[in-house]
Amino acid sequence: MGNWCGLGLHLIFLCVFLVANTYTCLGVRNTSVINCSQQERLALLKFKNSVRDRAGMLSSWVGNDCCLWRGIQCDGVSGNIQRLDLKGDYPYIYSYYYDYYLAGNSASSSLAELRHLKYLDLSGNNFHGIIPEFIGSLKQLTYLNLSHASFNGIIPPHIGNLSNLKVLDLSSNRGLIADDMAWAFGLSSLELLDLSLVVFTEAQDWGMVLHMMPSLIKLSLSWCGLSNADLGPFLNSSRILPNIQHLDLGYNSFKAPFPAFFQNMTSLAFLDLSYFNLSSGSNFAKLLNMIPSLSELHLSDCSLDMTHLSSHRLNFSTFFNIQHLDLSNNPLEGDFPSFLANMTSLRVLDLSETMLNSSLPIMPKLTGLDLSRNKFMQVEDVGIWRQCHLK
Ligand SMILES: *[C@@H]1O[C@H](CO)[C@@H](O)[C@H](O)[C@H]1NC(C)=O
Ligand SMILES: *[C@@H]1O[C@H](CO)[C@@H](O)[C@H](O)[C@H]1NC(C)=O
Ligand SMILES: *[C@@H]1O[C@H](CO)[C@@H](O)[C@H](O)[C@H]1NC(C)=O
Ligand SMILES: *[C@@H]1O[C@H](CO)[C@@H](O)[C@H](O)[C@H]1NC(C)=O
Ligand SMILES: *[C@@H]1O[C@H](CO)[C@@H](O)[C@H](O)[C@H]1NC(C)=O
Ligand SMILES: *[C@@H]1O[C@H](CO)[C@@H](O)[C@H](O)[C@H]1NC(C)=O
Ligand SMILES: *[C@@H]1O[C@H](CO)[C@@H](O)[C@H](O)[C@H]1NC(C)=O
Ligand SMILES: *[C@@H]1O[C@H](CO)[C@@H](O)[C@H](O)[C@H]1NC(C)=O
Ligand SMILES: *[C@@H]1O[C@H](CO)[C@@H](O)[C@H](O)[C@H]1NC(C)=O
Ligand SMILES: *[C@@H]1O[C@H](CO)[C@@H](O)[C@H](O)[C@H]1NC(C)=O
Repeated sequence: MGNWCGLGLHLIFLCVFLVANTYTCLGVRNTSVINCSQQERLALLKFKNSVRDRAGMLSSWVGNDCCLWRGIQCDGVSGNIQRLDLKGDYPYIYSYYYDYYLAGNSASSSLAELRHLKYLDLSGNNFHGIIPEFIGSLKQLTYLNLSHASFNGIIPPHIGNLSNLKVLDLSSNRGLIADDMAWAFGLSSLELLDLSLVVFTEAQDWGMVLHMMPSLIKLSLSWCGLSNADLGPFLNSSRILPNIQHLDLGYNSFKAPFPAFFQNMTSLAFLDLSYFNLSSGSNFAKLLNMIPSLSELHLSDCSLDMTHLSSHRLNFSTFFNIQHLDLSNNPLEGDFPSFLANMTSLRVLDLSETMLNSSLPIMPKLTGLDLSRNKFMQVEDVGIWRQCHLK
Protein backbone atom coordinates (compact mmCIF):
# COMPACT_ATOMS: atom_id res chain seq x y z
CA MET A 1 0.00 0.00 0.00
CA GLY A 2 2.87 2.37 0.88
CA ASN A 3 4.29 2.13 -2.64
CA TRP A 4 1.00 2.82 -4.29
CA CYS A 5 0.27 5.74 -2.05
CA GLY A 6 3.73 7.24 -2.57
CA LEU A 7 3.06 7.81 -6.24
CA GLY A 8 1.65 11.26 -5.79
CA LEU A 9 -0.55 13.56 -3.87
CA HIS A 10 -3.65 12.68 -5.83
CA LEU A 11 -3.15 9.03 -5.23
CA ILE A 12 -2.61 9.63 -1.51
CA PHE A 13 -5.91 11.43 -1.42
CA LEU A 14 -7.55 8.62 -3.37
CA CYS A 15 -6.17 6.04 -0.96
CA VAL A 16 -7.28 7.89 2.13
CA PHE A 17 -10.68 8.28 0.57
CA LEU A 18 -10.89 4.56 -0.22
CA VAL A 19 -9.59 3.54 3.20
CA ALA A 20 -12.24 5.62 4.88
CA ASN A 21 -15.00 4.07 2.82
CA THR A 22 -14.06 0.49 2.23
CA TYR A 23 -11.19 -0.13 4.60
CA THR A 24 -8.83 -0.93 1.73
CA CYS A 25 -6.53 0.78 -0.67
CA LEU A 26 -7.12 0.40 -4.38
CA GLY A 27 -9.90 -2.12 -3.99
CA VAL A 28 -7.84 -4.97 -2.55
CA ARG A 29 -10.73 -5.80 -0.30
CA ASN A 30 -14.24 -4.73 -1.10
CA THR A 31 -16.48 -6.76 1.14
CA SER A 32 -17.58 -3.97 3.36
CA VAL A 33 -18.98 -1.16 1.29
CA ILE A 34 -22.15 -1.53 3.32
CA ASN A 35 -22.30 -2.26 7.04
CA CYS A 36 -23.59 -5.60 8.22
CA SER A 37 -27.12 -5.73 9.51
CA GLN A 38 -27.58 -5.17 13.24
CA GLN A 39 -29.74 -8.27 13.47
CA GLU A 40 -27.05 -10.51 12.00
CA ARG A 41 -24.37 -8.83 14.08
CA LEU A 42 -26.30 -9.52 17.30
CA ALA A 43 -26.87 -13.13 16.24
CA LEU A 44 -23.12 -13.59 15.80
CA LEU A 45 -22.41 -12.04 19.20
CA LYS A 46 -24.93 -14.40 20.79
CA PHE A 47 -23.17 -17.30 19.12
CA LYS A 48 -19.82 -15.98 20.35
CA ASN A 49 -21.15 -15.84 23.91
CA SER A 50 -22.45 -19.41 23.67
CA VAL A 51 -19.08 -21.03 22.91
CA ARG A 52 -15.79 -21.46 24.69
CA ASP A 53 -13.03 -19.95 22.58
CA ARG A 54 -9.68 -20.57 24.25
CA ALA A 55 -7.71 -20.03 21.04
CA GLY A 56 -9.29 -16.65 20.37
CA MET A 57 -10.75 -17.72 17.02
CA LEU A 58 -13.42 -15.06 17.44
CA SER A 59 -11.22 -12.32 18.93
CA SER A 60 -11.79 -10.13 15.88
CA TRP A 61 -15.53 -10.21 16.52
CA VAL A 62 -15.74 -6.70 17.98
CA GLY A 63 -16.94 -3.40 16.57
CA ASN A 64 -19.84 -2.52 14.36
CA ASP A 65 -19.04 -3.89 10.97
CA CYS A 66 -19.32 -7.65 11.30
CA CYS A 67 -18.48 -8.03 7.61
CA LEU A 68 -14.86 -7.43 8.63
CA TRP A 69 -14.82 -10.09 11.32
CA ARG A 70 -12.79 -13.22 10.87
CA GLY A 71 -14.60 -16.03 9.03
CA ILE A 72 -17.41 -13.80 7.78
CA GLN A 73 -18.09 -12.81 4.22
CA CYS A 74 -20.91 -10.47 3.26
CA ASP A 75 -22.68 -9.82 0.03
CA GLY A 76 -21.09 -6.70 -1.50
CA VAL A 77 -24.42 -5.10 -2.32
CA SER A 78 -26.88 -6.05 0.41
CA GLY A 79 -24.37 -6.56 3.23
CA ASN A 80 -26.05 -9.84 4.20
CA ILE A 81 -23.75 -12.51 5.58
CA GLN A 82 -23.20 -15.17 2.93
CA ARG A 83 -20.32 -17.20 4.30
CA LEU A 84 -19.48 -18.32 7.80
CA ASP A 85 -16.24 -20.28 7.89
CA LEU A 86 -15.29 -21.32 11.42
CA LYS A 87 -13.23 -24.39 10.61
CA GLY A 88 -11.26 -25.52 13.66
CA ASP A 89 -8.81 -28.36 14.09
CA TYR A 90 -10.36 -30.10 17.08
CA PRO A 91 -9.84 -33.82 16.39
CA TYR A 92 -6.41 -33.43 14.85
CA ILE A 93 -4.55 -33.67 18.11
CA TYR A 94 -1.18 -33.95 16.41
CA SER A 95 -1.47 -30.76 14.42
CA TYR A 96 0.48 -27.67 15.37
CA TYR A 97 -2.45 -25.54 16.49
CA TYR A 98 -4.10 -28.42 18.25
CA ASP A 99 -6.26 -26.27 20.45
CA TYR A 100 -7.61 -24.10 17.67
CA TYR A 101 -11.31 -24.83 18.01
CA LEU A 102 -14.56 -23.70 19.56
CA ALA A 103 -16.35 -25.73 22.21
CA GLY A 104 -19.99 -25.58 23.10
CA ASN A 105 -23.08 -27.54 23.79
CA SER A 106 -24.54 -27.88 20.29
CA ALA A 107 -24.46 -24.87 17.97
CA SER A 108 -26.41 -21.87 19.22
CA SER A 109 -29.78 -21.34 17.57
CA SER A 110 -28.92 -17.67 17.11
CA LEU A 111 -27.25 -18.71 13.85
CA ALA A 112 -30.75 -19.24 12.47
CA GLU A 113 -30.87 -15.45 12.03
CA LEU A 114 -28.28 -15.70 9.25
CA ARG A 115 -30.95 -16.44 6.69
CA HIS A 116 -28.88 -15.52 3.66
CA LEU A 117 -26.04 -17.93 4.40
CA LYS A 118 -24.85 -19.89 1.42
CA TYR A 119 -21.76 -21.43 2.96
CA LEU A 120 -21.45 -22.77 6.50
CA ASP A 121 -18.38 -24.58 7.81
CA LEU A 122 -18.37 -25.52 11.50
CA SER A 123 -16.08 -28.52 11.04
CA GLY A 124 -13.28 -29.36 13.44
CA ASN A 125 -14.94 -27.91 16.55
CA ASN A 126 -16.24 -29.60 19.67
CA PHE A 127 -19.98 -29.04 19.80
CA HIS A 128 -20.74 -32.10 21.83
CA GLY A 129 -24.48 -32.25 21.16
CA ILE A 130 -27.10 -32.85 18.52
CA ILE A 131 -27.17 -31.16 15.13
CA PRO A 132 -29.69 -28.38 15.74
CA GLU A 133 -32.93 -28.44 13.76
CA PHE A 134 -32.66 -24.79 12.74
CA ILE A 135 -30.00 -25.83 10.22
CA GLY A 136 -32.92 -26.82 7.99
CA SER A 137 -34.18 -23.23 7.90
CA LEU A 138 -31.02 -21.89 6.21
CA LYS A 139 -32.63 -22.41 2.84
CA GLN A 140 -29.95 -20.66 0.76
CA LEU A 141 -27.17 -23.02 1.85
CA THR A 142 -25.21 -24.65 -0.93
CA TYR A 143 -22.29 -25.84 1.25
CA LEU A 144 -22.63 -27.35 4.73
CA ASN A 145 -19.70 -28.90 6.53
CA LEU A 146 -20.32 -30.27 10.03
CA SER A 147 -17.62 -32.93 9.95
CA HIS A 148 -15.24 -33.69 12.84
CA ALA A 149 -17.36 -31.56 15.15
CA SER A 150 -18.44 -34.02 17.87
CA PHE A 151 -22.08 -33.91 16.87
CA ASN A 152 -24.03 -36.94 18.08
CA GLY A 153 -27.58 -38.26 18.19
CA ILE A 154 -29.92 -38.60 15.24
CA ILE A 155 -29.45 -36.57 12.06
CA PRO A 156 -32.44 -34.17 12.07
CA PRO A 157 -34.73 -34.68 9.06
CA HIS A 158 -34.83 -30.88 8.75
CA ILE A 159 -31.63 -31.10 6.72
CA GLY A 160 -33.86 -32.40 3.94
CA ASN A 161 -35.29 -28.86 3.58
CA LEU A 162 -32.02 -27.62 2.12
CA SER A 163 -32.91 -28.11 -1.51
CA ASN A 164 -30.09 -25.86 -2.77
CA LEU A 165 -27.40 -27.87 -1.05
CA LYS A 166 -24.59 -29.08 -3.32
CA VAL A 167 -22.14 -30.24 -0.65
CA LEU A 168 -23.04 -31.99 2.62
CA ASP A 169 -20.31 -33.33 4.88
CA LEU A 170 -21.43 -34.93 8.16
CA SER A 171 -18.49 -37.34 8.38
CA SER A 172 -16.35 -38.30 11.36
CA ASN A 173 -18.80 -37.39 14.09
CA ARG A 174 -18.55 -40.44 16.31
CA GLY A 175 -22.03 -41.27 17.55
CA LEU A 176 -23.97 -39.55 14.79
CA ILE A 177 -26.88 -41.80 13.79
CA ALA A 178 -28.98 -42.11 10.63
CA ASP A 179 -32.18 -43.88 11.70
CA ASP A 180 -34.13 -42.87 8.61
CA MET A 181 -32.79 -41.48 5.37
CA ALA A 182 -36.04 -40.02 4.05
CA TRP A 183 -34.59 -36.52 4.53
CA ALA A 184 -32.15 -37.18 1.71
CA PHE A 185 -34.95 -37.12 -0.87
CA GLY A 186 -35.18 -33.35 -0.47
CA LEU A 187 -31.59 -32.80 -1.50
CA SER A 188 -32.12 -32.87 -5.22
CA SER A 189 -29.11 -30.70 -6.10
CA LEU A 190 -26.60 -32.61 -3.99
CA GLU A 191 -23.28 -33.38 -5.71
CA LEU A 192 -21.14 -34.40 -2.75
CA LEU A 193 -22.31 -36.43 0.24
CA ASP A 194 -19.94 -37.62 2.96
CA LEU A 195 -21.49 -39.72 5.73
CA SER A 196 -18.38 -41.67 6.70
CA LEU A 197 -18.53 -43.02 10.25
CA VAL A 198 -22.25 -42.26 10.56
CA VAL A 199 -24.03 -45.21 12.16
CA PHE A 200 -26.86 -46.52 9.99
CA THR A 201 -29.10 -48.25 12.49
CA GLU A 202 -32.45 -48.93 10.94
CA ALA A 203 -32.07 -46.84 7.84
CA GLN A 204 -33.43 -49.54 5.52
CA ASP A 205 -34.20 -46.93 2.94
CA TRP A 206 -30.58 -45.99 2.35
CA GLY A 207 -30.33 -48.07 -0.83
CA MET A 208 -33.30 -46.03 -2.02
CA VAL A 209 -31.26 -42.90 -1.39
CA LEU A 210 -28.72 -43.97 -3.99
CA HIS A 211 -31.54 -44.29 -6.45
CA MET A 212 -33.03 -40.89 -5.63
CA MET A 213 -29.88 -38.79 -5.87
CA PRO A 214 -28.98 -38.77 -9.54
CA SER A 215 -26.88 -35.60 -9.24
CA LEU A 216 -24.32 -37.17 -6.89
CA ILE A 217 -20.73 -37.01 -8.16
CA LYS A 218 -18.94 -37.94 -4.96
CA LEU A 219 -20.23 -40.28 -2.24
CA SER A 220 -18.36 -41.45 0.85
CA LEU A 221 -19.87 -44.09 3.10
CA SER A 222 -16.80 -45.61 4.69
CA TRP A 223 -17.00 -47.19 8.16
CA CYS A 224 -20.81 -47.11 8.14
CA GLY A 225 -21.40 -50.80 8.98
CA LEU A 226 -23.27 -51.38 5.70
CA SER A 227 -23.74 -54.80 4.08
CA ASN A 228 -25.22 -56.13 0.83
CA ALA A 229 -28.53 -56.69 2.61
CA ASP A 230 -28.77 -52.95 3.22
CA LEU A 231 -28.89 -52.41 -0.53
CA GLY A 232 -32.25 -54.18 -0.59
CA PRO A 233 -33.92 -54.27 -3.98
CA PHE A 234 -31.14 -52.11 -5.43
CA LEU A 235 -28.56 -54.87 -5.15
CA ASN A 236 -29.62 -56.13 -8.57
CA SER A 237 -30.59 -52.80 -9.99
CA SER A 238 -28.64 -52.03 -13.12
CA ARG A 239 -28.50 -48.28 -12.86
CA ILE A 240 -28.06 -45.98 -9.88
CA LEU A 241 -25.88 -42.92 -9.43
CA PRO A 242 -25.42 -42.32 -13.16
CA ASN A 243 -23.01 -39.40 -12.65
CA ILE A 244 -20.92 -40.80 -9.84
CA GLN A 245 -17.15 -40.27 -10.19
CA HIS A 246 -15.90 -40.92 -6.67
CA LEU A 247 -17.29 -43.75 -4.53
CA ASP A 248 -15.87 -44.69 -1.15
CA LEU A 249 -17.46 -47.81 0.36
CA GLY A 250 -14.39 -48.91 2.32
CA TYR A 251 -14.52 -50.68 5.69
CA ASN A 252 -18.11 -51.86 5.53
CA SER A 253 -19.35 -55.47 5.49
CA PHE A 254 -20.00 -55.85 1.77
CA LYS A 255 -19.32 -59.21 0.15
CA ALA A 256 -19.07 -60.55 -3.40
CA PRO A 257 -20.98 -60.95 -5.68
CA PHE A 258 -20.77 -57.32 -6.62
CA PRO A 259 -23.93 -55.30 -6.87
CA ALA A 260 -24.99 -55.12 -10.52
CA PHE A 261 -24.93 -51.34 -10.60
CA PHE A 262 -21.12 -51.21 -10.72
CA GLN A 263 -21.37 -52.29 -14.32
CA ASN A 264 -23.11 -49.11 -15.36
CA MET A 265 -21.00 -46.62 -13.45
CA THR A 266 -19.26 -45.56 -16.59
CA SER A 267 -17.90 -42.29 -15.17
CA LEU A 268 -16.49 -43.80 -11.99
CA ALA A 269 -12.83 -42.81 -11.59
CA PHE A 270 -12.24 -43.39 -7.85
CA LEU A 271 -13.32 -46.51 -5.97
CA ASP A 272 -12.45 -47.56 -2.44
CA LEU A 273 -13.59 -51.07 -1.51
CA SER A 274 -11.08 -51.65 1.27
CA TYR A 275 -12.02 -54.51 3.61
CA PHE A 276 -14.28 -56.02 0.94
CA ASN A 277 -13.43 -59.75 1.04
CA LEU A 278 -12.28 -60.53 -2.52
CA SER A 279 -10.72 -63.88 -1.65
CA SER A 280 -13.07 -66.21 -3.49
CA GLY A 281 -12.75 -66.97 -7.21
CA SER A 282 -11.73 -64.27 -9.63
CA ASN A 283 -13.48 -61.37 -7.96
CA PHE A 284 -10.54 -59.05 -8.39
CA ALA A 285 -10.48 -59.68 -12.13
CA LYS A 286 -14.26 -59.34 -12.33
CA LEU A 287 -14.17 -56.03 -10.54
CA LEU A 288 -11.63 -54.61 -12.98
CA ASN A 289 -13.68 -55.85 -15.91
CA MET A 290 -16.82 -54.28 -14.55
CA ILE A 291 -15.43 -50.76 -14.18
CA PRO A 292 -12.83 -50.02 -16.86
CA SER A 293 -13.06 -46.26 -16.26
CA LEU A 294 -11.24 -46.41 -12.90
CA SER A 295 -8.10 -44.36 -12.40
CA GLU A 296 -7.76 -44.81 -8.63
CA LEU A 297 -8.53 -48.08 -6.85
CA HIS A 298 -8.13 -48.81 -3.15
CA LEU A 299 -8.28 -52.48 -2.18
CA SER A 300 -6.53 -52.47 1.18
CA ASP A 301 -7.26 -55.41 3.48
CA CYS A 302 -9.31 -57.36 0.90
CA SER A 303 -7.83 -60.85 1.55
CA LEU A 304 -6.15 -60.83 -1.87
CA ASP A 305 -3.32 -63.33 -2.33
CA MET A 306 -0.99 -64.08 -5.23
CA THR A 307 -3.43 -66.46 -6.94
CA HIS A 308 -5.86 -63.57 -7.42
CA LEU A 309 -3.18 -61.49 -9.07
CA SER A 310 -1.86 -64.14 -11.43
CA SER A 311 -1.62 -62.82 -14.96
CA HIS A 312 -3.76 -65.40 -16.71
CA ARG A 313 -6.80 -64.33 -14.77
CA LEU A 314 -6.49 -60.65 -15.53
CA ASN A 315 -7.71 -58.67 -18.48
CA PHE A 316 -4.95 -56.19 -19.22
CA SER A 317 -7.03 -53.88 -21.32
CA THR A 318 -8.79 -52.80 -18.11
CA PHE A 319 -5.54 -51.73 -16.49
CA PHE A 320 -4.54 -48.96 -18.80
CA ASN A 321 -6.43 -46.27 -16.94
CA ILE A 322 -5.33 -47.08 -13.41
CA GLN A 323 -2.89 -44.50 -12.07
CA HIS A 324 -3.18 -45.12 -8.35
CA LEU A 325 -3.44 -48.64 -6.95
CA ASP A 326 -3.58 -49.50 -3.27
CA LEU A 327 -3.07 -53.21 -2.48
CA SER A 328 -1.76 -52.67 1.03
CA ASN A 329 -2.51 -55.01 3.89
CA ASN A 330 -3.19 -58.06 1.72
CA PRO A 331 -1.56 -61.51 2.15
CA LEU A 332 0.66 -61.15 -0.95
CA GLU A 333 3.75 -63.33 -0.57
CA GLY A 334 6.97 -63.85 -2.52
CA ASP A 335 7.76 -62.28 -5.90
CA PHE A 336 6.67 -58.84 -6.98
CA PRO A 337 3.50 -59.36 -9.10
CA SER A 338 4.87 -59.04 -12.61
CA PHE A 339 1.78 -57.56 -14.19
CA LEU A 340 2.20 -54.41 -12.08
CA ALA A 341 5.38 -53.64 -14.02
CA ASN A 342 3.34 -53.68 -17.21
CA MET A 343 0.77 -51.18 -15.99
CA THR A 344 2.13 -48.27 -17.95
CA SER A 345 -0.34 -45.77 -16.53
CA LEU A 346 0.59 -46.46 -12.91
CA ARG A 347 1.90 -43.46 -10.95
CA VAL A 348 1.25 -44.38 -7.32
CA LEU A 349 1.49 -47.88 -5.87
CA ASP A 350 0.90 -48.89 -2.27
CA LEU A 351 2.20 -52.33 -1.29
CA SER A 352 2.70 -51.64 2.41
CA GLU A 353 1.95 -54.39 4.91
CA THR A 354 2.26 -57.22 2.41
CA MET A 355 4.80 -60.06 2.50
CA LEU A 356 6.55 -59.50 -0.83
CA ASN A 357 10.28 -60.18 -0.77
CA SER A 358 11.70 -60.00 -4.30
CA SER A 359 13.47 -57.10 -5.98
CA LEU A 360 11.50 -54.43 -7.77
CA PRO A 361 11.45 -53.99 -11.51
CA ILE A 362 12.07 -50.50 -12.83
CA MET A 363 8.82 -48.59 -13.28
CA PRO A 364 9.90 -45.29 -14.81
CA LYS A 365 6.55 -43.50 -14.54
CA LEU A 366 6.01 -44.19 -10.86
CA THR A 367 6.07 -41.10 -8.66
CA GLY A 368 4.85 -42.62 -5.40
CA LEU A 369 5.62 -46.00 -3.87
CA ASP A 370 4.85 -47.25 -0.38
CA LEU A 371 6.66 -50.42 0.68
CA SER A 372 6.56 -49.92 4.42
CA ARG A 373 6.08 -52.80 6.82
CA ASN A 374 6.87 -55.76 4.58
CA LYS A 375 9.69 -58.10 3.71
CA PHE A 376 11.42 -56.34 0.83
CA MET A 377 14.26 -55.36 3.13
CA GLN A 378 15.30 -58.97 3.68
CA VAL A 379 16.83 -59.22 0.23
CA GLU A 380 19.97 -57.37 -0.73
CA ASP A 381 18.88 -55.84 -3.99
CA VAL A 382 15.49 -54.39 -3.32
CA GLY A 383 15.76 -52.38 -6.47
CA ILE A 384 14.41 -49.33 -4.73
CA TRP A 385 17.71 -47.51 -5.28
CA ARG A 386 17.19 -47.74 -8.99
CA GLN A 387 13.85 -45.94 -8.84
CA CYS A 388 15.56 -42.56 -8.92
CA HIS A 389 12.55 -40.85 -10.42
CA LEU A 390 10.43 -41.32 -7.28
CA LYS A 391 9.35 -38.11 -5.64
C1 LIG B 1 -21.85 1.99 9.34
O1 LIG B 1 -22.00 2.02 10.74
C2 LIG B 1 -21.39 3.15 11.35
C3 LIG B 1 -21.50 2.98 12.85
O2 LIG B 1 -22.72 2.42 13.21
C4 LIG B 1 -22.07 4.41 10.84
O3 LIG B 1 -21.42 5.54 11.40
C5 LIG B 1 -21.97 4.47 9.32
O4 LIG B 1 -22.67 5.57 8.82
C6 LIG B 1 -22.51 3.19 8.70
N1 LIG B 1 -22.25 3.22 7.26
C7 LIG B 1 -23.16 2.85 6.37
C8 LIG B 1 -22.73 2.91 4.93
O5 LIG B 1 -24.27 2.48 6.68
C1 LIG C 1 -17.10 -3.38 -4.93
O1 LIG C 1 -18.42 -3.18 -4.45
C2 LIG C 1 -19.26 -2.52 -5.35
C3 LIG C 1 -20.57 -2.16 -4.66
O2 LIG C 1 -20.99 -3.17 -3.84
C4 LIG C 1 -19.46 -3.42 -6.56
O3 LIG C 1 -20.33 -2.82 -7.49
C5 LIG C 1 -18.12 -3.65 -7.21
O4 LIG C 1 -18.25 -4.55 -8.29
C6 LIG C 1 -17.13 -4.23 -6.20
N1 LIG C 1 -15.81 -4.26 -6.80
C7 LIG C 1 -15.02 -5.33 -6.74
C8 LIG C 1 -13.70 -5.20 -7.39
O5 LIG C 1 -15.38 -6.35 -6.18
C1 LIG D 1 -15.03 -30.44 5.65
O1 LIG D 1 -14.09 -30.07 6.61
C2 LIG D 1 -13.09 -31.05 6.84
C3 LIG D 1 -12.27 -30.69 8.05
O2 LIG D 1 -12.23 -29.36 8.31
C4 LIG D 1 -12.27 -31.17 5.58
O3 LIG D 1 -11.25 -32.12 5.76
C5 LIG D 1 -13.21 -31.63 4.46
O4 LIG D 1 -12.51 -31.69 3.23
C6 LIG D 1 -14.39 -30.69 4.30
N1 LIG D 1 -15.35 -31.32 3.41
C7 LIG D 1 -15.68 -30.82 2.22
C8 LIG D 1 -16.64 -31.61 1.42
O5 LIG D 1 -15.25 -29.76 1.80
C1 LIG E 1 -38.39 -28.83 7.48
O1 LIG E 1 -38.38 -30.22 7.65
C2 LIG E 1 -39.11 -30.70 8.75
C3 LIG E 1 -38.87 -32.19 8.91
O2 LIG E 1 -38.76 -32.84 7.69
C4 LIG E 1 -40.56 -30.33 8.60
O3 LIG E 1 -41.32 -30.79 9.69
C5 LIG E 1 -40.66 -28.83 8.47
O4 LIG E 1 -41.99 -28.47 8.21
C6 LIG E 1 -39.76 -28.28 7.40
N1 LIG E 1 -39.75 -26.84 7.51
C7 LIG E 1 -39.82 -26.03 6.47
C8 LIG E 1 -39.76 -24.57 6.77
O5 LIG E 1 -39.88 -26.44 5.34
C1 LIG F 1 -30.42 -60.67 -7.10
O1 LIG F 1 -30.24 -61.62 -8.15
C2 LIG F 1 -29.86 -62.89 -7.71
C3 LIG F 1 -29.54 -63.77 -8.88
O2 LIG F 1 -29.94 -63.20 -10.08
C4 LIG F 1 -30.96 -63.48 -6.83
O3 LIG F 1 -30.57 -64.75 -6.35
C5 LIG F 1 -31.19 -62.54 -5.66
O4 LIG F 1 -32.26 -63.02 -4.90
C6 LIG F 1 -31.49 -61.14 -6.13
N1 LIG F 1 -31.53 -60.28 -4.97
C7 LIG F 1 -32.46 -59.36 -4.80
C8 LIG F 1 -32.38 -58.56 -3.53
O5 LIG F 1 -33.33 -59.15 -5.61
C1 LIG G 1 -26.79 -51.30 -17.49
O1 LIG G 1 -26.08 -52.51 -17.58
C2 LIG G 1 -26.81 -53.58 -18.10
C3 LIG G 1 -25.94 -54.80 -18.05
O2 LIG G 1 -25.59 -55.08 -16.75
C4 LIG G 1 -27.24 -53.26 -19.51
O3 LIG G 1 -28.03 -54.30 -20.02
C5 LIG G 1 -28.03 -51.97 -19.50
O4 LIG G 1 -28.34 -51.61 -20.82
C6 LIG G 1 -27.27 -50.87 -18.86
N1 LIG G 1 -28.10 -49.72 -18.74
C7 LIG G 1 -27.71 -48.50 -19.05
C8 LIG G 1 -28.72 -47.42 -18.90
O5 LIG G 1 -26.59 -48.25 -19.42
C1 LIG H 1 -13.05 -64.20 3.14
O1 LIG H 1 -13.94 -65.12 2.57
C2 LIG H 1 -13.46 -66.45 2.54
C3 LIG H 1 -14.44 -67.33 1.82
O2 LIG H 1 -15.28 -66.64 1.00
C4 LIG H 1 -13.28 -66.92 3.98
O3 LIG H 1 -12.77 -68.22 3.98
C5 LIG H 1 -12.31 -65.99 4.69
O4 LIG H 1 -12.22 -66.35 6.05
C6 LIG H 1 -12.75 -64.55 4.58
N1 LIG H 1 -11.73 -63.69 5.13
C7 LIG H 1 -11.94 -62.81 6.07
C8 LIG H 1 -10.78 -62.00 6.53
O5 LIG H 1 -13.06 -62.64 6.55
C1 LIG I 1 -11.39 -56.96 -21.30
O1 LIG I 1 -11.85 -55.65 -20.97
C2 LIG I 1 -12.39 -54.95 -22.08
C3 LIG I 1 -12.71 -53.54 -21.62
O2 LIG I 1 -13.51 -53.56 -20.49
C4 LIG I 1 -13.60 -55.70 -22.61
O3 LIG I 1 -14.12 -55.01 -23.72
C5 LIG I 1 -13.19 -57.11 -23.00
O4 LIG I 1 -14.32 -57.83 -23.39
C6 LIG I 1 -12.51 -57.81 -21.84
N1 LIG I 1 -12.00 -59.10 -22.27
C7 LIG I 1 -12.17 -60.22 -21.56
C8 LIG I 1 -11.55 -61.44 -22.10
O5 LIG I 1 -12.79 -60.22 -20.50
C1 LIG J 1 10.12 -65.08 -0.46
O1 LIG J 1 8.85 -65.56 -0.05
C2 LIG J 1 8.53 -66.85 -0.60
C3 LIG J 1 7.09 -67.16 -0.23
O2 LIG J 1 6.81 -66.79 1.09
C4 LIG J 1 9.52 -67.88 -0.06
O3 LIG J 1 9.22 -69.15 -0.60
C5 LIG J 1 10.92 -67.45 -0.45
O4 LIG J 1 11.86 -68.33 0.13
C6 LIG J 1 11.22 -66.03 0.02
N1 LIG J 1 12.50 -65.61 -0.54
C7 LIG J 1 13.39 -64.93 0.17
C8 LIG J 1 14.65 -64.57 -0.55
O5 LIG J 1 13.22 -64.64 1.33
C1 LIG K 1 4.58 -57.59 -19.73
O1 LIG K 1 4.92 -57.09 -21.02
C2 LIG K 1 5.90 -57.85 -21.67
C3 LIG K 1 6.30 -57.14 -22.97
O2 LIG K 1 5.19 -56.52 -23.56
C4 LIG K 1 5.36 -59.26 -21.96
O3 LIG K 1 6.33 -60.06 -22.61
C5 LIG K 1 4.99 -59.89 -20.63
O4 LIG K 1 4.37 -61.15 -20.85
C6 LIG K 1 4.05 -59.00 -19.86
N1 LIG K 1 3.88 -59.56 -18.53
C7 LIG K 1 2.72 -59.76 -18.00
C8 LIG K 1 2.68 -60.33 -16.63
O5 LIG K 1 1.69 -59.49 -18.60
